[in-house]
Amino acid sequence: MEKTLAIIKPNAIANAEEIEKMIIKDGFTIVQRRRVLLSKEQAMEFYAEHRDKPFFSDLINFMTSGPVLAMVLSKDRAVRAWRRLLGPTSVAAAIKKHPDSIRARFGSSDTENAAHGSDSAESAEREIRFFFPDVTLYPILSGMEARDF
Ligand code: TYD
Ligand code: MG
Repeated sequence: MEKTLAIIKPNAIANAEEIEKMIIKDGFTIVQRRRVLLSKEQAMEFYAEHRDKPFFSDLINFMTSGPVLAMVLSKDRAVRAWRRLLGPTSVAAAIKKHPDSIRARFGSSDTENAAHGSDSAESAEREIRFFFPDVTLYPILSGMEARDF
Protein backbone atom coordinates (compact mmCIF):
# COMPACT_ATOMS: atom_id res chain seq x y z
CA MET A 1 0.00 0.00 0.00
CA GLU A 2 1.24 3.48 -0.86
CA LYS A 3 1.38 6.17 1.82
CA THR A 4 0.87 9.91 1.57
CA LEU A 5 0.91 12.87 3.92
CA ALA A 6 -2.29 14.81 4.56
CA ILE A 7 -2.47 17.99 6.61
CA ILE A 8 -5.68 19.58 7.80
CA LYS A 9 -4.75 23.26 7.78
CA PRO A 10 -5.65 25.82 10.51
CA ASN A 11 -8.81 27.11 8.80
CA ALA A 12 -10.30 23.60 8.59
CA ILE A 13 -9.33 22.24 12.01
CA ALA A 14 -12.91 22.81 13.19
CA ASN A 15 -14.02 20.44 10.40
CA ALA A 16 -11.39 17.79 11.14
CA GLU A 17 -13.90 15.11 12.19
CA GLU A 18 -15.96 15.54 9.07
CA ILE A 19 -12.86 15.49 6.85
CA GLU A 20 -11.65 12.31 8.58
CA LYS A 21 -15.02 10.71 7.85
CA MET A 22 -14.56 11.57 4.15
CA ILE A 23 -11.05 10.08 4.25
CA ILE A 24 -12.25 6.81 5.77
CA LYS A 25 -15.31 6.62 3.51
CA ASP A 26 -12.96 6.91 0.54
CA GLY A 27 -11.10 3.78 1.69
CA PHE A 28 -7.95 5.21 3.26
CA THR A 29 -6.42 3.88 6.43
CA ILE A 30 -5.19 6.57 8.83
CA VAL A 31 -1.82 5.15 9.84
CA GLN A 32 -0.65 7.98 12.08
CA ARG A 33 -1.99 11.31 13.22
CA ARG A 34 -0.44 14.22 15.10
CA ARG A 35 -1.77 17.65 16.00
CA VAL A 36 0.98 20.26 15.97
CA LEU A 37 1.53 24.00 16.05
CA LEU A 38 4.28 24.67 13.50
CA SER A 39 6.97 27.28 14.15
CA LYS A 40 7.75 29.73 11.34
CA GLU A 41 11.05 27.89 10.78
CA GLN A 42 9.29 24.52 10.49
CA ALA A 43 6.68 25.86 8.08
CA MET A 44 9.41 27.48 5.95
CA GLU A 45 11.31 24.21 5.82
CA PHE A 46 8.21 22.20 4.92
CA TYR A 47 7.32 24.60 2.07
CA ALA A 48 10.94 25.36 1.06
CA GLU A 49 10.20 24.69 -2.63
CA HIS A 50 7.93 27.77 -2.61
CA ARG A 51 10.33 30.18 -0.85
CA ASP A 52 10.62 32.50 -3.87
CA LYS A 53 6.91 32.59 -4.69
CA PRO A 54 4.91 35.80 -4.07
CA PHE A 55 2.48 33.96 -1.79
CA PHE A 56 5.19 32.47 0.46
CA SER A 57 4.91 34.83 3.44
CA ASP A 58 1.09 34.63 3.42
CA LEU A 59 1.37 30.85 3.31
CA ILE A 60 3.81 30.72 6.24
CA ASN A 61 1.73 33.14 8.33
CA PHE A 62 -1.39 31.10 7.66
CA MET A 63 0.20 27.71 8.36
CA THR A 64 1.51 28.95 11.71
CA SER A 65 -1.72 30.75 12.72
CA GLY A 66 -3.08 27.74 14.62
CA PRO A 67 -2.73 24.00 15.05
CA VAL A 68 -2.68 21.63 12.09
CA LEU A 69 -3.50 17.92 12.00
CA ALA A 70 -0.91 15.88 10.09
CA MET A 71 -1.90 12.36 9.05
CA VAL A 72 -0.26 9.49 7.21
CA LEU A 73 -2.83 7.94 4.87
CA SER A 74 -2.46 4.51 3.31
CA LYS A 75 -4.26 3.15 0.26
CA ASP A 76 -3.52 1.73 -3.19
CA ARG A 77 -2.13 4.73 -5.14
CA ALA A 78 -2.67 6.91 -2.07
CA VAL A 79 -0.82 9.98 -3.41
CA ARG A 80 -3.06 10.31 -6.43
CA ALA A 81 -6.25 9.25 -4.60
CA TRP A 82 -5.73 11.83 -1.84
CA ARG A 83 -5.00 14.63 -4.34
CA ARG A 84 -8.27 13.75 -6.06
CA LEU A 85 -10.33 13.83 -2.84
CA LEU A 86 -8.53 17.07 -1.87
CA GLY A 87 -9.43 18.87 -5.10
CA PRO A 88 -7.47 21.55 -7.01
CA THR A 89 -5.16 24.04 -5.24
CA SER A 90 -7.45 26.95 -6.15
CA VAL A 91 -10.63 26.88 -4.08
CA ALA A 92 -12.52 28.74 -6.82
CA ALA A 93 -11.56 26.03 -9.33
CA ALA A 94 -12.44 23.34 -6.79
CA ILE A 95 -15.94 24.79 -6.26
CA LYS A 96 -16.48 25.05 -10.00
CA LYS A 97 -15.11 21.68 -11.10
CA HIS A 98 -15.07 19.42 -8.02
CA PRO A 99 -17.77 20.65 -5.62
CA ASP A 100 -17.61 17.51 -3.47
CA SER A 101 -13.87 17.85 -2.87
CA ILE A 102 -12.41 18.84 0.51
CA ARG A 103 -11.04 22.15 -0.79
CA ALA A 104 -14.39 23.06 -2.36
CA ARG A 105 -16.27 22.28 0.85
CA PHE A 106 -13.86 23.64 3.47
CA GLY A 107 -11.46 26.02 1.70
CA SER A 108 -11.87 29.76 2.09
CA SER A 109 -9.22 31.19 -0.27
CA ASP A 110 -6.31 30.10 -2.46
CA THR A 111 -4.05 30.26 0.59
CA GLU A 112 -6.58 28.97 3.16
CA ASN A 113 -7.44 25.92 1.09
CA ALA A 114 -8.24 23.56 3.98
CA ALA A 115 -5.80 20.71 3.48
CA HIS A 116 -2.49 19.55 2.02
CA GLY A 117 -1.51 16.48 0.05
CA SER A 118 1.90 15.25 -1.11
CA ASP A 119 2.36 15.61 -4.87
CA SER A 120 4.46 12.46 -5.50
CA ALA A 121 5.69 9.33 -3.75
CA GLU A 122 9.07 11.03 -3.23
CA SER A 123 7.47 14.12 -1.65
CA ALA A 124 5.30 11.84 0.49
CA GLU A 125 8.34 10.08 1.92
CA ARG A 126 10.06 13.36 2.77
CA GLU A 127 6.90 14.96 4.19
CA ILE A 128 5.99 11.91 6.30
CA ARG A 129 9.50 11.95 7.79
CA PHE A 130 9.13 15.68 8.46
CA PHE A 131 6.07 15.17 10.69
CA PHE A 132 6.81 11.65 11.96
CA PRO A 133 10.61 11.35 12.19
CA ASP A 134 10.51 8.98 15.12
CA VAL A 135 7.71 6.65 14.08
CA THR A 136 7.61 3.20 12.52
CA LEU A 137 4.62 3.13 10.21
CA TYR A 138 2.33 0.16 10.73
CA PRO A 139 -1.23 0.12 9.36
CA ILE A 140 -2.65 0.14 12.87
CA LEU A 141 -5.99 1.84 12.32
CA SER A 142 -8.93 1.40 10.03
CA GLY A 143 -12.52 2.52 9.77
CA MET A 144 -14.08 4.79 12.35
CA GLU A 145 -11.63 3.72 15.07
CA ALA A 146 -9.15 6.19 13.61
CA ARG A 147 -11.07 9.06 15.19
CA ASP A 148 -10.50 7.66 18.67
CA PHE A 149 -6.75 7.29 18.31
P1 TYD B 1 1.17 24.24 -4.31
O1 TYD B 1 2.21 23.23 -3.94
O2 TYD B 1 1.29 24.89 -5.65
O3 TYD B 1 -0.31 23.60 -4.22
P2 TYD B 1 -0.80 22.24 -3.52
O4 TYD B 1 -1.04 22.54 -2.06
O5 TYD B 1 -2.09 21.92 -4.24
O6 TYD B 1 0.25 21.21 -3.74
O7 TYD B 1 1.13 25.41 -3.25
C1 TYD B 1 1.30 25.14 -1.87
C2 TYD B 1 0.34 26.00 -1.09
O8 TYD B 1 0.65 27.37 -1.28
C3 TYD B 1 -1.13 25.88 -1.52
O9 TYD B 1 -1.79 24.76 -0.96
C4 TYD B 1 -1.68 27.18 -1.00
C5 TYD B 1 -0.54 28.16 -1.21
N1 TYD B 1 -0.71 28.92 -2.47
C6 TYD B 1 -1.19 30.23 -2.40
O10 TYD B 1 -1.43 30.75 -1.30
N2 TYD B 1 -1.36 30.92 -3.55
C7 TYD B 1 -1.12 30.39 -4.78
O11 TYD B 1 -1.31 31.07 -5.82
C8 TYD B 1 -0.63 29.03 -4.85
C9 TYD B 1 -0.33 28.39 -6.17
C10 TYD B 1 -0.45 28.34 -3.66
MG1 MG C 1 2.28 21.20 -3.52
